[in-house]
Amino acid sequence: MIFDTHAHYDDDAFDEDRESLLDSLPEHGIEGVVNVSASLSSCRQTVSLVESYPFLYGAVGVHPSETAELTEESFAWLKAAARSSKVVAVGEIGLDYYWEEPDHKIQKEWFHRQLELAKELGLPVIIHSREAANDTLQILKEHSAAQLGGVIHCYSYSLELAKEYEKMGFYFGIGGVVTFKNAKKLSEVVTYLPLERIVLETDAPYLAPVPVRGSRNFSANLLYIAQRIAELKNISYEEVITRTCENARKLYRLNGAEYG
Ligand code: NI
Repeated sequence: MIFDTHAHYDDDAFDEDRESLLDSLPEHGIEGVVNVSASLSSCRQTVSLVESYPFLYGAVGVHPSETAELTEESFAWLKAAARSSKVVAVGEIGLDYYWEEPDHKIQKEWFHRQLELAKELGLPVIIHSREAANDTLQILKEHSAAQLGGVIHCYSYSLELAKEYEKMGFYFGIGGVVTFKNAKKLSEVVTYLPLERIVLETDAPYLAPVPVRGSRNFSANLLYIAQRIAELKNISYEEVITRTCENARKLYRLNGAEYG
């Protein structure tokens, strides 16, 4: 059974057929999905969406690019929302220096605050980091993130840095990018990483894998990603599916699985 550790089914792209699409996921062999929030409004939608589907879990948090909307008041609301049932992580949070805005100072401030929230609630974190490798690692270390646990979403950095995160016990979210022709650096990372550190993610509706690249992504497309990982690691497709599903359950501490 397949576990999608990172999807955005609250996105507008699913407005027309969200219900029927989610209903169909178990038929595609999908055992679990974590719907990851990016903004305050998507936190609201995530908390309500997970109530309707037994296989759907939620992560609550504000993406670095959306942090300008946070205030003490809305953060207090976010804290309460993170205590909802079926919320299994704080995310996606982090730093995104690809865009000028919001100011890096603002991004860092709310990254700190949301890491503190994760610590307070005893939840793992889902990290978004783009062109901000050094600051991300430094802040995670300041917060003893190795104890929090979590996943680096859509890992895009070097093999050297991957070794740092591996030491911290983090999981690596591997998605559609690994199937792209120009994904040389990521292929190297996936080849190197022990299978027990890898989890599958779609980032749906974004980043659909080859051969459906460019289309609206959804959890059933994880099979293409699992196939590519199997090729790179020279193991069977079934092993990738089974082991990454176990990893996902450990990452999000489901079924009483021990964190490790
Ligand atoms: Ni995402």
